[in-house]
Amino acid sequence: MRNYPNLSTLDHPLIRHKLTVLRDKRTPTKDFRDLVAEIAMLMAYEVTSDLPTEPVDIETPLERMEGATVAGKKLTLVPILRAGLGMVDGILRLIPSARVGHIGLYRDHDTLKPVSYYFKAPSAREQRDFFLLDPMLATGGSAADACTTLKNVGARSIRFLCIVASPEGVEKMLAEHPDVPIYAAALDRQLNEHGYILPGLGDAGDRLFGTR
Ligand code: PRP
Ligand code: URA
Repeated sequence: MRNYPNLSTLDHPLIRHKLTVLRDKRTPTKDFRDLVAEIAMLMAYEVTSDLPTEPVDIETPLERMEGATVAGKKLTLVPILRAGLGMVDGILRLIPSARVGHIGLYRDHDTLKPVSYYFKAPSAREQRDFFLLDPMLATGGSAADACTTLKNVGARSIRFLCIVASPEGVEKMLAEHPDVPIYAAALDRQLNEHGYILPGLGDAGDRLFGTR
């Protein structure tokens, strides 16, 4: 499998285990939802390992000490609707102070191009770090479009977190948004003729919400 300069694969054993159950077609909706949240939380733990901290004086019941708090920019989570919603709660459990924006996009069935229908994100965007969330990076059209939308309203720091990526999607992001690092639980083999990732996990939105 090729190495890409914009891709980090987070293959912690717990992530690999949970992703295997997630991919299994027998996994029911409730378990699928729980697993997406858990994988997102584990990914966020790794992706935030470079967050700067600053010293803070506190008093334990026994004495004073210098502790550490997370410093710097505020974090905004931006799920791409619908399936990105499944990743929000897991990350909020780790970072409850994060704000949440939303980007509504769906992929046209015939052209596979993203169609935009909603956007809302917190103000002062240039001072924030954005985590763009979507379980699937397939052709890359949705992720690239969402990055353009965020940059057009001032975002300067974007990381894209997905669960399954395809080589085609990673290459599109590298061509159009080389400044956006991608974090994925797995890089899969290829897309099929309908733009689905192989081996993949199927339609993430449908499996999360029990549609179809
Ligand atoms: C899926 C997925 C991504 C997109 C990925 O959403 O959640 O947003 O497809 O494909 P791409 O990389 O080729 O753009 P979908 O368009 O099916 O919408 P939904 O989540 O509302 O079902
Ligand atoms: N969207 C999905 O939900 N799954 C894929 O495999 C590709 C796009």
